[in-house]
Amino acid sequence: MAELRIGLVGTGGIGRTHIERINTRLQGGVVIGCADVNVDFGKSVAEKFGIKGYDGPEALINDPEIDAVIVTASDDYHAPFVLEAIKAGKPVFCEKPLSPTPEKCREIVEAEMASGKHLVQVGFMRRYDPGYVQLKNMIDSGKYGAPLVLHCCHHNYDDGGVGWKTSMSVENSMIHEIDVLRWLLGENYKKVDVVFPRCSKNASEGCQDPQIMHLTTESGTYIEVESFVFSHYGYDVRCEIVCEEGVLNLPEPPYAMVRTNDARVTPICHDWSERFPDAYNIEFQNWINASKEGRVDGPTAWDGYVAQIAAGCASKARDTQTTVEIDIPEMPEFYKA
Ligand SMILES: NC(=O)c1ccc[n+]([C@@H]2O[C@H](COP(=O)([O-])OP(=O)(O)OC[C@H]3O[C@@H](n4cnc5c(N)ncnc54)[C@H](O)[C@@H]3O)[C@@H](O)[C@H]2O)c1
Repeated sequence: MAELRIGLVGTGGIGRTHIERINTRLQGGVVIGCADVNVDFGKSVAEKFGIKGYDGPEALINDPEIDAVIVTASDDYHAPFVLEAIKAGKPVFCEKPLSPTPEKCREIVEAEMASGKHLVQVGFMRRYDPGYVQLKNMIDSGKYGAPLVLHCCHHNYDDGGVGWKTSMSVENSMIHEIDVLRWLLGENYKKVDVVFPRCSKNASEGCQDPQIMHLTTESGTYIEVESFVFSHYGYDVRCEIVCEEGVLNLPEPPYAMVRTNDARVTPICHDWSERFPDAYNIEFQNWINASKEGRVDGPTAWDGYVAQIAAGCASKARDTQTTVEIDIPEMPEFYKA
């Protein structure tokens, strides 16, 4: 296959950035069409990028001209389009979450296994961030001994205008830590609780912010993740891993330090698009390359399912203010490398 011909469903904020990155910066694939539930809007995006605008997602997914599908619609509409792509036998990249419910994720897992082909990748792009990759290599080298404690934080400047609710801190924000820390440590979680510190005056009405999630892994590694959505200073993702023989820190983005106004200032990113551009580029280049070879070598539907089980337990822990045991089923042979 000379070029992977890609169709994108859901032409909102991140969908448009993915079209732009694939068609201007990456190689071996091109987005040739897009669709949105708002047909006129989808067609206006298509016109802007000089690609085909479809009357609906199903027409796009089943068009023989389309080799592979990207799903960047709103969370609740991921599953139907992923299932449609599996039915059509096409590789499908789905932005996180695979689906908001573990049950729907399981349905996707079952459909993919029944198809007999590895088709689904989930958009947990932090696994491609060069900083997280460094941490993974350091842990896997064994040089620093076993990881014992992780201190992580995920701060946003504000909610970016989406109308944040208390539930979203686990489901939309800390879901990234749930996936990337499981990948870093190479093991599943056993239990979780979520505590509510004093609430910020800047939190939207009725919303608890910040929140702190505590996870314990199967081997007993202890993790705390602080989510502070209305931090009012920037987009700041941190990860410190205390190992038996060293402490590993996620590198900060390489901004130049400025001396000004009686201060030394190093800027902090404002939002996700500034913080992880390399991760998105590497993620999609890998996806294009692997899709052309009929492989999935990124986060799988199983990873999306397991993340949603853990997130569901964290949500229950938050709502009941109790510690909840996390029961992850045995990974099927199909997903073992
Ligand atoms: N990996 C990341 O870091 C990251 C960052 C941002 C967003 N996301 C995910 O990407 C997805 C999109 O986020 P966004 O910020 O672009 O949201 P958005 O609201 O800007 O865009 C969503 C688009 O989907 C369309 N849509 C909704 N229902 C649809 C349907 N049934 N059929 C077709 N189109 C439909 C909407 O009209 C809209 O254009 C979300 O699932 C979000 O969680 C991931």
